[in-house]
Amino acid sequence: MKLRTLLTASSLCCIPFFISAQNNFDLVPKPVEMHLNQGFYKIPETVNLYIDKDFKDSSFLLKEYPSIKTIHETSKKKASVRILKKALDSSKEGAYELKISSNGIEIAAQDKAGILNGIFTFIQLGYLQKDSSQLLYSEIKDAPRFGYRGLHLDTSRHYFPLNFLKKYIDLMAIYKLNNFHWHFTDGAGWRLEIKKYPELTQKAAWRTHALWKDWWNNGRQYVEQGTPNASGGFYTQDEAKELVKYAAERGINIIPEIEMPAHSEEVIAVYPELSCSGIPYSQSEFCIGNPKTFEFLKNVLDEVLEIFPSQYIHIGGDEADKSHWKTCPKDQALMKKEGLKSVDELQSYAILQMDKYLQSKGRKLVGWDEILDGGLTPGATVMSWRGEQGGITAANSGHDVIMTPGEFLYLDGYQTDPRTQPESIGGYLPIEKVYSYDPVSKDLKDDKKKHILGAQANLWTEYVPTTEHVEYMAYPRVLALAEVDWTEPEHKNYQDFHKRLQSQYALLQKLNVNYYRPSYNVAAKVDFNPTAKTDTVELTTEQNNKQGIHYTLDGSEPTAKSPVYTQPIQFTQSGTLKAAYFLDQFKVGPTLEQRIDIHKAIGKKVIYNQKWIGYEAQKELTLTNGIFGGVSYHDKQWQGFTRPMDVVVDFERPETISTVAMNFMQITGPGVYMPGEMRVFVSDDNKNFREVGVVKNDVSPSVSQLTFKRFELNLPQPVKARYLKVTTTNPGRGYLFTDEIIVY
Ligand code: ACM
Repeated sequence: MKLRTLLTASSLCCIPFFISAQNNFDLVPKPVEMHLNQGFYKIPETVNLYIDKDFKDSSFLLKEYPSIKTIHETSKKKASVRILKKALDSSKEGAYELKISSNGIEIAAQDKAGILNGIFTFIQLGYLQKDSSQLLYSEIKDAPRFGYRGLHLDTSRHYFPLNFLKKYIDLMAIYKLNNFHWHFTDGAGWRLEIKKYPELTQKAAWRTHALWKDWWNNGRQYVEQGTPNASGGFYTQDEAKELVKYAAERGINIIPEIEMPAHSEEVIAVYPELSCSGIPYSQSEFCIGNPKTFEFLKNVLDEVLEIFPSQYIHIGGDEADKSHWKTCPKDQALMKKEGLKSVDELQSYAILQMDKYLQSKGRKLVGWDEILDGGLTPGATVMSWRGEQGGITAANSGHDVIMTPGEFLYLDGYQTDPRTQPESIGGYLPIEKVYSYDPVSKDLKDDKKKHILGAQANLWTEYVPTTEHVEYMAYPRVLALAEVDWTEPEHKNYQDFHKRLQSQYALLQKLNVNYYRPSYNVAAKVDFNPTAKTDTVELTTEQNNKQGIHYTLDGSEPTAKSPVYTQPIQFTQSGTLKAAYFLDQFKVGPTLEQRIDIHKAIGKKVIYNQKWIGYEAQKELTLTNGIFGGVSYHDKQWQGFTRPMDVVVDFERPETISTVAMNFMQITGPGVYMPGEMRVFVSDDNKNFREVGVVKNDVSPSVSQLTFKRFELNLPQPVKARYLKVTTTNPGRGYLFTDEIIVY
């Protein structure tokens, strides 16, 4: 019997058991079309290779297939591996077909990018198998959704050696990412040799402290290379060229980023004449009105262009503090001369000079979305990071855009409960959220969608000092990015991706990648139904086996004998749910304790004597909607206050009150603190209030890790009142975040 199963991107469920048991096709990104046939091709250790003359320089890559040892090129088309140039059904750049049959392995494409994609699918298949010496007869037809599939790495905040960057590139190739955005200049260190400006790497590449955080908090000084405490490093031009070649062989373009006009403290430290004040360490921005600035930047770019053949050259453009330019005589004179009405236009003028210069050299300028402020220069491609709006505006006005919104694609944020993780810069980005991202926003005009070149994830390294930590933050989330960039939205399916991820973990282990292992935490999603006044609790785990969760409802510790969680649990009244993950009868993760509060203030009106600032959450509905915040204050249930809080609940009639509670959080990195105290008052007229109690904070402001505290006041005697007022102090003078006023 000949078995032939069609596996389109949406039907991977159907792999017959006996096949999946022996061969694994859990590829990421998932091919557009895949047919699995019966029978295995035994891959020889020494393969005869027929390869089209246009692709000959890629033949060596086949040795990356785990069980291939030697390659003999032959002109015979009957070779065991055939790499062919031919027209395919898909005319997209990077499309390929891979056929495994009794005749061997055949990879066909119409361009080099397609051949490389086909080779890396073949190599990934090899790594997915327990025994890579045989592969199931199969046919794959595949093409990318986007031409630009990017990954970034910040090598300024911390320096990583060239060999590690090669590994970073190797992994990008396996997952078909084709643009490496190399961020190597920033305030924390200049990391590329520039022959005309040797001080950049003799001094600006070296600092007093190895860890960015220590350096940042202790004077932020650069020191000469060779001094006893000098920490840092740089890439020679030869090394950079070596990496460019290494990446190109794997189909990856390297986009260098030379930051300007801001994030340039390290340049100003060694060439202070390029700042407004002329004083080292005085500002992060170049002086735009000083012609020497452009002389410097163009000279630097000349050397950069020599190293990097990339069509796109990134000039930064983000986060400039433009205040110095407002008072600098040189900048003011330039603004007058050029008729520039604002410092935003002055920045735009600076970008335009770079744009013209790059165009004169046949290159294209890319910049962060701040280059929109003050007017976008004609040739610019925008990298949209402060959300999607910059990208949408740029695309709708006809500019090309790379989407890299922080909310979905900043890999420096926590990927699971921050309380269990090494310190990060903040943010909360589980892999599922990366996966959910669609670079083509619904707010784009139909005829402008073509301007979205693709998406890129960024990995900033302020809190990522080692190569192991880079891998930990990047993987496995890069796999989700790969599918964001490769897979058409109608073929994306998180459950299916999550299942394939289980196989990919084994691949990452084989390649010795220090990826973030899925935790044994149990998380709860509580959904409140305001009509029925019920809470439905869904328990989730990053593990693939949902049967591992056991729970209790009576406050006791869950054991292996407690009920197994199989479906969402409904609460009609307040209670406590405890749950934990078990493996082979042993508890292997922490106990989740989830309080369910179906309380008296739900649905009641809240009067704000002090309004929220910045983090509006659900506005006036937030504090009495029965819905609680999660681990991130970005989840639109946590409301943020920068002043002391002062709110009143109106029960509309006298209500008996015996308990009042509010949750607060602390995470000091981004300036979020506990209140000093919470005071509770009651009133019958919303004018004359009587204090009924106070709860003092007992969490030290020096606790930097994410911490939650429930401020709970239990009255010795219940009181009856229509109005309930809660105030807090704000001694930390940062943000206070709270999600609900709980009243019993
Ligand atoms: C950025 O994250 N400042 C581009």
